[in-house]
Amino acid sequence: MESGGNDFRSGTMAEETPKEAAEKQTSSSAKDAAAPAAAPKGKKAAEKEGKKVSRRGFFSWAAVGWVGFTAAIGGCVSAFNRFMFPNVLYEPPTSFKVGRPEDFAEGIVDERFKESNGVWIVNSGGSLYALIAICTHLGCPPNWLEAQNKFKCPCHGSGYYKNGINFEGPTPRPLERAKIFLDPDDGQIVVDKSQRYQWEMGQWEDTDSFIEVV
Ligand code: FES
Repeated sequence: MESGGNDFRSGTMAEETPKEAAEKQTSSSAKDAAAPAAAPKGKKAAEKEGKKVSRRGFFSWAAVGWVGFTAAIGGCVSAFNRFMFPNVLYEPPTSFKVGRPEDFAEGIVDERFKESNGVWIVNSGGSLYALIAICTHLGCPPNWLEAQNKFKCPCHGSGYYKNGINFEGPTPRPLERAKIFLDPDDGQIVVDKSQRYQWEMGQWEDTDSFIEVV
């Protein structure tokens, strides 16, 4: 009998008692119940990761926006500065002093003021006058050729005598003269390019177009 009971127990151990089955079922249910609790953990991690990524993205776009904003502000400031402080071209004064009459020898074309002020001071035939160094054809600056005793324009070949009258090339008229006079305070020669005199208009007769010298 005893041995049969042992056999029975070992038989139930192998086959599982209803109690054990119930406990197993309960344990399995508990496991199943616990499984969904783990799922939110994974979701949270994913959400956290997503948040991390989206935060990184946000900062990237913010950086791009900031750079764009800074560039736009820089452009505005630059335009404003250009408006307030425009590029200024240096223009030599139209009226200037060139020295005393005795500084200009008879028969000389003085080129000292051609580059700086755009005139030649000429002492010729008892007169001192200031010739504007602009070709009356199309506006190139002619050169004084001492050896040939003439002004010659390098652009199209117009030529002028020492007194400014044209004699060759395409130019239709003589060089122009600027106003010239003596400053009564210091006796210096003043040239004023804002007033010009044209030979063909009879303006070289005007006493403001030359200074008499002896
Ligand atoms: S510009 Fe002087 S000859 Fe034409």
